[in-house]
Amino acid sequence: MGEGTLFSPFKINGFNLKNRIGVAPMTRMSSPGDSIPRQDVLDFLVRRAQNGAAIVYTEAIVTDYESAQGYPKQARLTTQRQIDAWKPVVKAIQQEGAVAVMQMFHCGRMSWPEVNPAQRVIAPSAITPKQDNRMTGAPYPVPDAMTQFDIEHVINGFVETAKGAVEAGFDGIEIHGAHGYLVNTFLSSYSNQRTDAYGGSVENRCRFARQVIAAVRQVVPRERLLLFRISNWAGADLGVSLFENKDEWQQVIKLLSAEPIDAISVSTDGYSKKAFGTDQNMAQLTRAVTDLPIMICGRIYDRASAEDALRHADIVLSAKSMLLNPNWVADIRAGKELPVYEAKEAGVAYTDTPLP
Ligand SMILES: Cc1cc2nc3c(=O)[nH]c(=O)nc-3n(C[C@H](O)[C@H](O)[C@H](O)COP(=O)(O)O)c2cc1C
Repeated sequence: MGEGTLFSPFKINGFNLKNRIGVAPMTRMSSPGDSIPRQDVLDFLVRRAQNGAAIVYTEAIVTDYESAQGYPKQARLTTQRQIDAWKPVVKAIQQEGAVAVMQMFHCGRMSWPEVNPAQRVIAPSAITPKQDNRMTGAPYPVPDAMTQFDIEHVINGFVETAKGAVEAGFDGIEIHGAHGYLVNTFLSSYSNQRTDAYGGSVENRCRFARQVIAAVRQVVPRERLLLFRISNWAGADLGVSLFENKDEWQQVIKLLSAEPIDAISVSTDGYSKKAFGTDQNMAQLTRAVTDLPIMICGRIYDRASAEDALRHADIVLSAKSMLLNPNWVADIRAGKELPVYEAKEAGVAYTDTPLP
């Protein structure tokens, strides 16, 4: 099989990616007590680099010890012990010729007070997600609408975590602005009903994200990558379009593109699905308004879907196929017939079972 675009190099900032394939960020909930992932979870990332991925993302790392955590046993990256635990992992990924990216998030209204030391849930507005917390089976608590003090405190958590990642040697840092977590909820009028400078117009709703980017960029040297992930769907608001229409999505993308980020990562529940009632998919609608490199994710499972997704994006990310098939990159290179994995099968990610 010819190499095609999928196995062609791509330059992003100063990095020459060897191909267009990345391991999407995947939460593993394996870090009890010290917020350091289990060794087999760290080793898993290195093996994906050995298998040929050009980018390897960490799980989403929570940004503070107060209100950021949404799931049990999540990782953090602000203490020397945590930094030291990641250093050899980052190095090993780089030695395989891959780029190591740390993703960070604050869970916002999807936080879970019981697992947060301060037992607090905060969000742009005091509105709960539509669906119950799948981990507890109970409704999410009504969040406190964030004050200016909260906003500054939370931004500081992103900055401190980014500093930890820089110290650990990561090539890139991603702000998780997708899936209904804190940054994402500011962007959408569905969850942001503020009447101050952070709510109302699209520009106001983007203010928090832009402030996070600006603050984080201060501590992420220009030669490293700063990335932003965004989606039109949220994990506890399934079935809801977070943005009203294509124009609103494109306005948000344009505003974010004016910030000092190196790429936009678009997370979808199916890369090829037509979006906002148009005949275009999310990558196409994004490409139309930005010159930034675009990463696309969502049901990319074999060679054909990966090549197809690259018609409107620069890099493909895979989560479930990368999780469940240790030879995925080699298999797509060979053009093998491969399955589409479903969420249920990915549940193994959260167990104590080491993955090959
Ligand atoms: C086990 C698991 C954990 C995930 N954790 C994260 C996460 O920490 N951060 C994130 O942005 N997305 C997370 N996702 C979403 C994936 O990155 C991806 O967007 C989604 O699974 C769709 O891609 P796929 O069809 O290739 O699986 C997770 C997905 C899975 C299966």
